[in-house]
Amino acid sequence: MKVEEAITQRHSTRAFTDQKISEDKIRKIISLAQLAPSWVNSQPAHVYAATGTTLELIRQRQANAVRTGAASKTEVPTVSRSSFPKEKQDNMAKWYASIPDAIGSEWQKYNNDAALKLYNAQLILYLTLPKNHAEWSMFDLGLFADNILLAAKEQGLDSMTAYYLVMYRKYCVRRCQFPRTNGLSWELH
Ligand SMILES: Cc1cc2nc3c(=O)[nH]c(=O)nc-3n(C[C@H](O)[C@H](O)[C@H](O)COP(=O)(O)O)c2cc1C
Repeated sequence: MKVEEAITQRHSTRAFTDQKISEDKIRKIISLAQLAPSWVNSQPAHVYAATGTTLELIRQRQANAVRTGAASKTEVPTVSRSSFPKEKQDNMAKWYASIPDAIGSEWQKYNNDAALKLYNAQLILYLTLPKNHAEWSMFDLGLFADNILLAAKEQGLDSMTAYYLVMYRKYCVRRCQFPRTNGLSWELH
């Protein structure tokens, strides 16, 4: 697949199939992503992968938290749309206005139901930086993340980047003592 195809064909997917993703494929995608440039080659990103029973536990715990109305607590502070510059707010408004045409008037219910199931993702990669990381490392992390999306596309996998997947930082894999049975849950440097 050409880079141009991977870039133009990637889109945020909100309904994944049940297809499992092999550990080999995950490692291949991460090893390609690791070729991203970084400040003085610091390679600051860490990746935690959740699949199988580990991911099912996260799915259940987050769904319970959402259903009981627990307040979201993210690692990176969230900002309200009104704090963005006017023209960026216009981009967001245009995007929202286009959704009913694409998905139908029930789109909010559809989206909430999909999100509650973590989009039925069979793999979640949590990307982190070390504590007290340099501010520039956020730039490096974005480059690393985009490499993951494009490498995944090339491997025939769609992807979703979502606040929703990390809205409760306590359920992100690093902070949980999950059993390492069937589910993958490892750290790559
Ligand atoms: C950091 C980040 C967080 C996002 N969070 C959400 C989210 O919580 N829910 C959602 O439906 N889309 C989320 N998105 C997806 C964006 O809405 C999407 O990337 C944008 O509309 C462009 O569409 P595309 O990715 O299909 O090209 C997020 C994207 C990024 C980069």
